[in-house]
Amino acid sequence: MLAADHYDRLVNDLPMPQFPPGFAWGVATAAYQIEGAVAEDGRTDSVWDTFCRRPGVIRDGHTGDVADDHYHRWQEDVALMADLGISAYRFSISWPRVQPGGIGKANEAGLDFYDRLTDALLAAGITPIPTLFHWDLPQPLEDAGGWLTRDTAARFADYASLAAGRLGDRIETWITLNEPFVVMAFGYALGMHAPGKALMLDALPTAHHQLLGHGLATVALRALGVKQVLITNNYSPIWPASDSAADLAAAGAWDTLQNRLFTDPVLLGSYPDMSAFGLDIADVDYVRPGDLAVISPGIDGLGVNYYNPTRVSALADSPLPFQMEPIDGYPVTAFGWPVVPAGLTEQLVQLRDRYGDRLPPLYVTENGCSVPDEPAADGSIDDQFRISYLDGHIRALAAAIGAGVDVRGYLTWTMMDNFEWAEGYHQRFGLVYVDFETLRRTPKASFGWYRDMISAQRHGASLA
Ligand code: FCB
Repeated sequence: MLAADHYDRLVNDLPMPQFPPGFAWGVATAAYQIEGAVAEDGRTDSVWDTFCRRPGVIRDGHTGDVADDHYHRWQEDVALMADLGISAYRFSISWPRVQPGGIGKANEAGLDFYDRLTDALLAAGITPIPTLFHWDLPQPLEDAGGWLTRDTAARFADYASLAAGRLGDRIETWITLNEPFVVMAFGYALGMHAPGKALMLDALPTAHHQLLGHGLATVALRALGVKQVLITNNYSPIWPASDSAADLAAAGAWDTLQNRLFTDPVLLGSYPDMSAFGLDIADVDYVRPGDLAVISPGIDGLGVNYYNPTRVSALADSPLPFQMEPIDGYPVTAFGWPVVPAGLTEQLVQLRDRYGDRLPPLYVTENGCSVPDEPAADGSIDDQFRISYLDGHIRALAAAIGAGVDVRGYLTWTMMDNFEWAEGYHQRFGLVYVDFETLRRTPKASFGWYRDMISAQRHGASLA
């Protein structure tokens, strides 16, 4: 596997197109995946700390207890980012660090960490873009029902105010939620992510409550003077396995759940048709009059995470009327995800076609691949597969911009190898190799490639 089989070598031999001036180039990370220091300076458990202690749920019993120890090594990491030449850094703020327990006053020591980080980034010429919720819900809130409970939305807005109250004077762009679909699907419907509930369609209230949290937090952030509020969703072009009516309907159902459920309410102020799931949102008791207006105060940008298309076929006699099918004929990452750069163009164009002038500027807030990188005898990591992946996807992004889609930034996933949720430390997505024994950081070949590409873009030259 993983022959660095350059899927579109011919295209890669052409010069990289020039992106618009001011286009943001960056990297993305998430608190629980890199910070470690889970019991320091007043931080208490999130659902991920608790979930990791459950036997058998994380590969090899790994946890985020130490992760990349970024909490202590952040200066070294910011220096690496400065060397990379990025103009934007998307990180996430740990809710249980800033507001342990998820209720009450701020933990100043926790906020101090993000304060120092913000200042160091700004001093290095890097725009900080925090995500407020990248899955680490404080455990006491989960004990009270988590995202199944309406009150969690209000708690989230309160926490957003605490974070922006401290950092909003220096940070202009904030992201409320990361991939609420994954929280609903993996966390509450299927159970392979924290909090590990397998409620199937009974997980749907978590969609509404996360969206309410987004809307309430947006208003709270703006009240504190924040200029730009985004939400980040993971999008995937849905490919029906055949042209049969059943497979087309199955593809439509999945598209609704992944691509529309967390976007229509935010951009259009309405829920999509959920009849494929035997549901009329107008009838459910957890959607109250006025909620959709709360969810749709408008956003200033939409974060798009893209990894791969999804191919689906119909599944009869099941509460979820579809099943995933393999996508053959493309290289696959270590995770087994197909590498389909053109899917990014398709996704971005589809968003534009679907939402027209209701669509705000787009930012690719995650895109990257896991590779079983290991250092050679001389210590270098020659990750040509990742270079090819990035090259293909950045060209695909240029194609979307060429087709008239307003995309303002590309933040690759991820800066450095880290704790990849249920996969523990087994999936290496970083531009920087991390030795999880010594925590030593070593830039991979892709780091140099990305640095050169950014520099060529900045200087108006095209990278051959
Ligand atoms: C996304 C997550 C991110 C990372 C990548 C590989 O779904 O937002 O934290 O795990 O996948």
